Amino acid sequence: MAEKLALKGGKKTVPADMIHPWPEVTDEDRKAVAEVLTVADIQEQQKIQSESLAKEWADYMGMKYCIPVNSGTAALHMCVAGLGLEPGDEVIVPAFTFWASAAAVLHHNVIPVFVDIDPKTFCIDPALIEPAITERTKAVMPVHIHGMPADMDPILEIAKKHNLKVIEDVAQAHGARYKGKLCGAMGDAAGASTQRSKVLSSGSQGGLFMTDDEDIYKRAALLEYFGELVTPGREREEQEYNAYGLGWMYRDNPFSQAFVRSQLKRLDKNNALRVVNCNYLTENLSKIKGLETPYVPEECEPVYYNYVVGFNPDELDMDISPKQLREKVQEALGAEGVSTGQWQRLPVPEQEIFQARVGYGKGCPWKCTDSKVTYEKGAYPRSSEFIASHCYVFGINPPNNLELMKIYAEAFEKVMDNIDQIL
Ligand SMILES: Cc1ncc(COP(=O)(O)O)c(C=O)c1O
Repeated sequence: MAEKLALKGGKKTVPADMIHPWPEVTDEDRKAVAEVLTVADIQEQQKIQSESLAKEWADYMGMKYCIPVNSGTAALHMCVAGLGLEPGDEVIVPAFTFWASAAAVLHHNVIPVFVDIDPKTFCIDPALIEPAITERTKAVMPVHIHGMPADMDPILEIAKKHNLKVIEDVAQAHGARYKGKLCGAMGDAAGASTQRSKVLSSGSQGGLFMTDDEDIYKRAALLEYFGELVTPGREREEQEYNAYGLGWMYRDNPFSQAFVRSQLKRLDKNNALRVVNCNYLTENLSKIKGLETPYVPEECEPVYYNYVVGFNPDELDMDISPKQLREKVQEALGAEGVSTGQWQRLPVPEQEIFQARVGYGKGCPWKCTDSKVTYEKGAYPRSSEFIASHCYVFGINPPNNLELMKIYAEAFEKVMDNIDQIL
């Protein structure tokens, strides 16, 4: 039945103020952060919060070592350094990711080599890894994008065959599982982000480096505090003032650590609620012609950091591009009160830094390592197509629940049923 879209003056589907922001901040979170301030010596809290978070996250992951740091990018850089990668070495990275995955590689004068994605899972396509291997390749970095586990078995097999290390970018996938195994615990080292939007959130910035290997851990640890080895909260008291190598300032702060620790207690519950929300959307949106919902391989348990919807004009016999359809529908959904967004505008290798190979000056790190790696525009068509044809839907996080998802599904249905009003 024809219904006037909100964009054309009709009634808005989603009531104002119905969408709760993420992360949900509870009294326990407030108490946990406030407690950092209630002690006589706040310096003690640096040690307590950092060591407690390291232990609690390592326990959650079933891994030996964790170092909490101030960003996911820092954690990934520590993976690169921890593996002992050196200037001019190459790491294979998916072309569709947040560019920080590649930045963490460049931070160590190591060169990212990009490969395209599997269009169904939006993660790195294992079949494209082997052709990208050169004598300089030292590692591969699968990214569990949008909370969807990458296809780890073939990746680990290829890595073993070619003697490569595996760095997992688990920035978006805390608690996601592949064949029952936690993402982040399958490779040699992993970096997670606890930036505000992430499924394990610090409410601000933060990251978690993790590994099972003592040598990797020891090398990575040098990056946290200027190349020195100092326990958080023991600066000056125990400091040797002797740098063992080039380090950065990646130390995290006790307030965000206290917040993450509190959120970690609810990670599995929040992930489970988000999965219920997203499964409901998939069940209902997949019935609507012109929309594509996420494909979940049998062996994967995603956590839906983002819920993505694809647009297929062919199904509607429309002579427009998926991008045009997406943009029109997003505009109409916005008017209905469903907030959607676009995550990434370009495949990473098509971003300016790679096109110009500017790095940090004089064309480095490419020129100063005599790197022959190139970044051709148009060489990552699946990433480009995925970006053009998909949007993500805000508001899927708890405490938003099926009450909101039901209204979202109605809004999608209303817009798609009345598509002629906007095209
Ligand atoms: C896939 C991916 N990798 C790495 C990062 C970097 O994390 P951070 O922003 O905490 O440095 C992000 C953060 O958005 C990300 O989404």
